[in-house]
Amino acid sequence: MDLRSLVAIETPVVLGPFGGMSSVALTAAVSEAGGLGSFGLYGLSGERISAVASELRALTSRPFALNLWLPFRAPGEHAPAGVDRAGFDRAEFDSAIAGLADLFAEAGVEPPQWPVAPLPDFSEQLEAALAAEPAVLSVIFGVPPSEVVEDAHSRGILVIGTTTTVPEARALEAGGVDAIVASGMEAAGHRPSFLSTPEASLVGGLSLIPQVVDAVDVPVIAAGGIADRRGVAAAFALGAAGVQVGSAFLATRQSVAPAVHRDRIRAAEAHETVLTRAMSGRAARGLPNHAVRAIEERGGSASFPLQNILTGVFRRRAAQDGRAELLSLWMGQSAGLSRFDDASDVFAELAAGVPEALR
Ligand SMILES: Cc1cc2nc3c(=O)[nH]c(=O)nc-3n(C[C@H](O)[C@H](O)[C@H](O)COP(=O)(O)O)c2cc1C
Repeated sequence: MDLRSLVAIETPVVLGPFGGMSSVALTAAVSEAGGLGSFGLYGLSGERISAVASELRALTSRPFALNLWLPFRAPGEHAPAGVDRAGFDRAEFDSAIAGLADLFAEAGVEPPQWPVAPLPDFSEQLEAALAAEPAVLSVIFGVPPSEVVEDAHSRGILVIGTTTTVPEARALEAGGVDAIVASGMEAAGHRPSFLSTPEASLVGGLSLIPQVVDAVDVPVIAAGGIADRRGVAAAFALGAAGVQVGSAFLATRQSVAPAVHRDRIRAAEAHETVLTRAMSGRAARGLPNHAVRAIEERGGSASFPLQNILTGVFRRRAAQDGRAELLSLWMGQSAGLSRFDDASDVFAELAAGVPEALR
């Protein structure tokens, strides 16, 4: 099915959600341009989610997507032994704080104290996201439970899942999703693999897209490494019904990424990004910097989400101070193709790659 009629958009170009780094202005700009803007709800409370939805509605009356991380412990991620109520382990916390001491000091912040505030409850996030009635609820890290899909559908909300392999795509289709984002290994940010480890699920877009298209009947949205009209045209040639783009939009002035992060996106070479667990405890693609190297040299990170919460303490200060070496510099392998400072220019460039018949 045509993604445009499914979601009621003019151009089958999706702005990828950025958990922790989404911008209302950027999401609304892409929806207003005729695409589907997505907003990442990772880490937001129910109250914040409702506020974000209102802010989006004040800027656009067009469809947008809200994106949630499903509660999930990845294959290969260890479950700490003696956890507290929030799921954190005191011994792991103490050792992580000791390992990160230099980075807290370099950033000029105090290390966080035990106990650590947990991530907002998933059911609270879900309730707020559904109550906001976005056109689309997109999810990563698994197949949404059938009652979630049913609840969304009963409110007229479409559900989009995210795959990194053909078996994951089949599982998502069986779970009743309306469309599937196929995330090639080129993509920025966390690898959303859920049936196997990210490392055992690293399929490039050129291989992943046509094989997912062949395996499922729902529309497939190609993500990863698409940053200009050439990538868009290639994705449609491989059978995609739409594209989802992250890095090229993250580099624009409507993004809330720190200026030094946006600069690094434009300057990156294709070979420079790596998959690392250093900053968050989960494998994600970004540019290695001093913080990544320091954590990896010390033997790696604590588990997710503890590591992400702890590094967040120095990352927030580094963002204020414009210090790229202490940030999570998430970006994909085509980051260096990003040329435009304004989201509308990125959108026009991408739209130029959409086949005539679908524009
Ligand atoms: C900072 C950052 C945060 C991201 N957070 C999420 C997220 O919360 N949920 C999600 O589905 N995808 C997330 N992604 C992936 C993007 O939505 C998109 O699929 C990806 O960036 C596409 O690859 P590209 O950057 O090569 O275009 C994130 C990407 C970045 C750069």
